[in-house]
Amino acid sequence: MQAEASQLAAQEEWVGHYAFGLRISEQGTVISVGDGIAWISGLPSASMDEILELEDGSSALVFHLAAERIGAILLKQTEQLTAGNAAHLSGLRLSIGVGDALLGRVIDPLGNPLDDLPPPDFSGRRQIDVLSPPIMDRDFVNKPLYSGNRIIDTLIPMGKGQRQLLIGDNGTGKSSLALDTVINQKEKDVRCVYVLIGQKRSAVVNTIETLRESGALEYTTVIVAEATAMPGLKYLAPFSGCTISEYWMWAGKDVLIVYDDLTTHARAYRELSLLLRRPPGREAYPGDIFYLHARLLERSTCLAAHLGGGSMTALPIVETEQGEIASYIPTNLISITDGQFYLDAQLFSRGFLPAIDIRKSVSRIGGKAQHPAIKNEAGRMKLDYLQFLELEVFTRFGSRLEASMEARIRRGQMLRELLKQERLAPISIEKQMAWLVAYNEGLFDTLDRAALSRQLAQIEESASSLTLAESREQWRNAVRKGASGPAA
Ligand SMILES: Nc1ncnc2c1ncn2[C@@H]1O[C@H](COP(=O)(O)OP(=O)(O)OP(=O)(O)O)[C@@H](O)[C@H]1O
Ligand SMILES: [Mg+2]
Repeated sequence: MQAEASQLAAQEEWVGHYAFGLRISEQGTVISVGDGIAWISGLPSASMDEILELEDGSSALVFHLAAERIGAILLKQTEQLTAGNAAHLSGLRLSIGVGDALLGRVIDPLGNPLDDLPPPDFSGRRQIDVLSPPIMDRDFVNKPLYSGNRIIDTLIPMGKGQRQLLIGDNGTGKSSLALDTVINQKEKDVRCVYVLIGQKRSAVVNTIETLRESGALEYTTVIVAEATAMPGLKYLAPFSGCTISEYWMWAGKDVLIVYDDLTTHARAYRELSLLLRRPPGREAYPGDIFYLHARLLERSTCLAAHLGGGSMTALPIVETEQGEIASYIPTNLISITDGQFYLDAQLFSRGFLPAIDIRKSVSRIGGKAQHPAIKNEAGRMKLDYLQFLELEVFTRFGSRLEASMEARIRRGQMLRELLKQERLAPISIEKQMAWLVAYNEGLFDTLDRAALSRQLAQIEESASSLTLAESREQWRNAVRKGASGPAA
């Protein structure tokens, strides 16, 4: 009774204050729809990147402004969407929900859950397309980010806030390496975001299951735009992931984001651009493809201490054809990033896994963040390895070698065995130190391959209580003790 009375009073007040006036709003009309885009006429004040609401409940993003009409990419499409439907400007730009509620979740690039759980309880929303932090807000990369991989952490180290490209032919282990790096962030207070762009459903399911089984999903958000998703969603996916990471970075946290992969992303962007009749350039990509990826990757950085010191490390993946790193999209990305891990198909087929070719891989800034103790040991090992790779070429001619050379080649072959690593078996930085010291002390030189893994396990066990702060002397004693253990 009381509720009715108050509702009546409210209605009376609304009527009492109602003012007649002229309200002007624009109404557009869908001219044509297809392939994930819509052409719309009659919205002269539309602006780029504005969201359009369509009569049937679909939504689209303004992407191309022409004289008489606008081109929009569809974000949501209902079955009723056809030419002739009305379209309205929303005045809004695209944003996505952010916050810790996204950890452990699988979402689409608009933030809708794909894991049959209720929508996440977001802490807030952030606009998807924002500028990267200005130079004065950034700090140098100065903290290491460990991948758990023997080759990377010792020879091509990464730092927090770095952008490191994973490049290689298809099926050379790019995704596996990225996943291992995510798995290695367990209990390291690094949040992870894994963006899957245009992948088959089986690959998507595999990735999510691998993360779940290794206990990595709880600190990871997976963003999926499958192969069958609309091109607009594939185009947006990395930006959504970046936005979610950025929220954590500005909150002073460390984030690792994987873009798997940007070749597919570039193709989705090319598809959209061609459909919207933008002039094609090299390999039919639009002229702003470099700007697209630069804009995305520039948002990964290490923030200055007075801004919380958060960081966003990016691992973009790009696929090459026939090992051709000089083609358009790979060269663009190589020039935007701070280095690359190059995965080689030949090494892969010869069973050297992970197939990282250290001669073509580089990390331009990670070395500054590497622990001096590791750097010292790794420097010596790297020299040995590079010399071995050169010497090895001679052995192909079947020429007879001096005894000292033969010894170096044997040592190199042992090192190659040491550098091989299974999937899903990242190792801690202390274990890295243990094998490095043991190698530099020559403790593996006289072993055969069969004895190697047992010896390695003993050495790691014996040094397991040490930290990197301990002296070289202590490390040496510990690994020597391990090497002379019962089974050695
Ligand atoms: N270190 C490793 N040890 C053993 N097997 C590995 C290793 N790394 C990758 N593989 C295997 O190699 C295959 C290809 O790996 P992955 O899918 O990661 O490659 P990719 O480069 O991401 O491929 P795509 O181009 O199809 O995305 C997988 O079957 C994976 O199990
Ligand atoms: Mg892959």
